[in-house]
Amino acid sequence: MAGFAARLLDWHARHGRRGLPWQGSRDPYRVWLSEVMLQQTQVATVIPYYERFVARWPDVQALAAAPLSEVMALWAGLGYYARARNLHRCAQGVVAEHGGRFPTSGAALAGLPGIGRSTAAAIAAFCFDERAAILDGNVKRVLARHFGIAGYPGVAPVERALWQRAQRLLPPAAAMPAYTQALMDLGATVCTRRSPCCDRCPLRATCVARRSGRVAQLPAPRPPRALRIERAHLLVALCRGRVLVEQRAPQGIWGGLFSLPQFASAAALHRALAGLGGSEPPQPLPMRRHAFTHYTLSFTPHVARLPAAVPLPAGARWLRWGEVHTAALPAPVRRLLVELAPMAQAPRAASGSG
Ligand code: ADE
Repeated sequence: MAGFAARLLDWHARHGRRGLPWQGSRDPYRVWLSEVMLQQTQVATVIPYYERFVARWPDVQALAAAPLSEVMALWAGLGYYARARNLHRCAQGVVAEHGGRFPTSGAALAGLPGIGRSTAAAIAAFCFDERAAILDGNVKRVLARHFGIAGYPGVAPVERALWQRAQRLLPPAAAMPAYTQALMDLGATVCTRRSPCCDRCPLRATCVARRSGRVAQLPAPRPPRALRIERAHLLVALCRGRVLVEQRAPQGIWGGLFSLPQFASAAALHRALAGLGGSEPPQPLPMRRHAFTHYTLSFTPHVARLPAAVPLPAGARWLRWGEVHTAALPAPVRRLLVELAPMAQAPRAASGSG
């Protein structure tokens, strides 16, 4: 029986994913960009974003010199926006502190904003053949199953055991790029969470979970936690074919993006609307939900029409409907505005028609 790495490499040579736009590059800028985008997002979603980013900013100097607002605008829709802010900070750090060249070891890369241990290892393996282990969610699943490691991988002792395993399995340096990609591909395409294809797995002969009938039980799921629900009220203020948006603070959810003015209560929204010169009560729409990792945002949009020339608060601007598809808006806000566009652009309904 060939070893773990040898079987994985042999499988990858025949069945690994090919032709992804970041593959084949040893340019740390491109590899870093793709790995950050792929941290919480699927390959198919990432591809067009990655291509737009490298077309607009072909190297780390260009990205570092870009205004954050443009980076956020191009990132809009990918989610987990802290990644975009860290991306920009990281690019600026590489230029300011490393002379525009990414550090060449996993340990040094892991000190940069937004680059955790696993992402640093992936960059170091792909670009510099470093024998550094990756351990993202997919790889944790592969190793937990193959070695029959019980316990939720998000807790420290289980994670430590997985890192130790991962490090011991590594092939010689020259095979590190293919091996790293192979492990990612196996987790994404064969050893999947819900419907693993054990018949196609190069590691099935030694897989403890398979032998003991525990593939569906491993890795152990996250212990349940109460999901917080946060309420919010969003003002959809319309005026002459435009909608009012304001830039959110850099920290917190949707940081730096443009969004609808948000309030903790309907009463606060009504007060702000009166301050903007709105004289009619706004029309509340059905509540919507958006799930974040740590809580669910439950929000009610309120549609109001404003008289023409109102002074806008700092950070607020009018967005034309034609800009809704391209502005740096959070995805659920964009969806809402796309749905409202026909109503909002129609001439005002006759009074009494609802
Ligand atoms: N997920 C994280 N990094 C990846 C990569 N390089 N290729 C495919 N999926 C990934």
